[in-house]
Amino acid sequence: MNDADQDLRSRRFRVLGRHSPLFYEEPLHLVRGEGVWLWDASGRRYLDVYNNVPCVGHCHPRVVEAITRQVATLNIHTRYLHSNIVEYAERLTAKFDASLSRVMLTCTGSEANEIALRMARHCTGGQGIIVTDFAYHGNTEAVAELGTGFMPEAKTTRRVRSFPIPDSYNGPQGIAPDALADYYADAVKNAIDAFAADGVKFAGLLICPDFANEGLVNVPEGFLGKALAHVRAAGGLFIADEVQGGFGRTGRHWWSHQGFGEVPDIVSLGKPMGNGLPVAGVVARADLVDRFGEWAMYFNTFGGNPVSCAAALAVLDVLEQEKLLQNAVDTGAYVASGLRQLQSRHSLIGDVRDKGLFFAVELVLDRASKAPATQETARLVNAMRQSGVLISRIGRHDNILKMRPPMPFNREHADLLLATLGECLDKL
Ligand SMILES: Cc1ncc(COP(=O)(O)O)c(C=O)c1O
Repeated sequence: MNDADQDLRSRRFRVLGRHSPLFYEEPLHLVRGEGVWLWDASGRRYLDVYNNVPCVGHCHPRVVEAITRQVATLNIHTRYLHSNIVEYAERLTAKFDASLSRVMLTCTGSEANEIALRMARHCTGGQGIIVTDFAYHGNTEAVAELGTGFMPEAKTTRRVRSFPIPDSYNGPQGIAPDALADYYADAVKNAIDAFAADGVKFAGLLICPDFANEGLVNVPEGFLGKALAHVRAAGGLFIADEVQGGFGRTGRHWWSHQGFGEVPDIVSLGKPMGNGLPVAGVVARADLVDRFGEWAMYFNTFGGNPVSCAAALAVLDVLEQEKLLQNAVDTGAYVASGLRQLQSRHSLIGDVRDKGLFFAVELVLDRASKAPATQETARLVNAMRQSGVLISRIGRHDNILKMRPPMPFNREHADLLLATLGECLDKL
């Protein structure tokens, strides 16, 4: 790191503290972005294979123009009539099942999940929420209780219970692959029963349908339908956290839950929604939103303001006009095939998982035992950064490469990613 960046890091530690996370052993000082590219303060260019928030590309001119025009015209909260929020809500709900017809806008995914929790708890009269045993859904106090991955609040709450990540690669020993869906769905049922035994009324199941933070696992076929049968029989709601997987990242659908053929009661959205502007929200059944609204007034000073909605409208325009969902299918398949070729050459790669432009590469010390290659994963992520390609890692053991580039990612970018990954693996 050069002197100027070292100085900036020291100043950052002084004012933000050392616990404010920074990526990479040698943190990156970024100053500019365009499309799938980022530049550091020394002028070096990096391929961004990590950031899903700038989903239509860093500083996309259509989004920049929409924000600039609106911010120069009017920016105000939502207690006045304005066409942007209405037009956005109309266009957004048109992409969901007809039953999901109401929108509430927030600034962050955490706030969206907070609203989802309050709505589910009010409408069911229950408190109990089920999540996976390695979940992250945000950082407010109630949402931190869902954070079984690493949030302290999750350890002490009585109103959240977990079931094992429905992971067909790391499934329990001794259970046949075709019995896994029942095994995990039964675990959801056990959590429902445990709430009942503890005198906590059940409110719902809250999951990211892609299980993105859990490691983008391949879910055993039929799991969700079986689990939801238990949830609905117990009077619970299905809350789909689409904060990561939404807005077409998986390519074939706008929303990940659509890939499972199941309709949630409440969906939370965020990250890519405004290409970096803080806009997030929930899309939910009208009866739930109306019952919630009768009970509690909802207002969010910044949520859904005309500038946020201008950005969000521009994101929908670009996703549609540049056919980025189709690109996610085509380029996603190309990357996945390249990753599998690397897997055939490197025994370190235990499993490759892909959903459109979302990839997880699980690194193991030994393919039979699947022992996590945690240190090797850290070294690889840092080596990639030094070679000019930005990725990260996730999972309970931090041994899963996480790649989720801006959606204009094309074959040329994919070739650079795959070549660099291959070189870094060779040198590891
Ligand atoms: C699945 C999921 N839900 C919710 C959130 C919280 O979103 P935000 O950071 O915008 O509050 C995150 C953030 O990483 C997330 O990954």
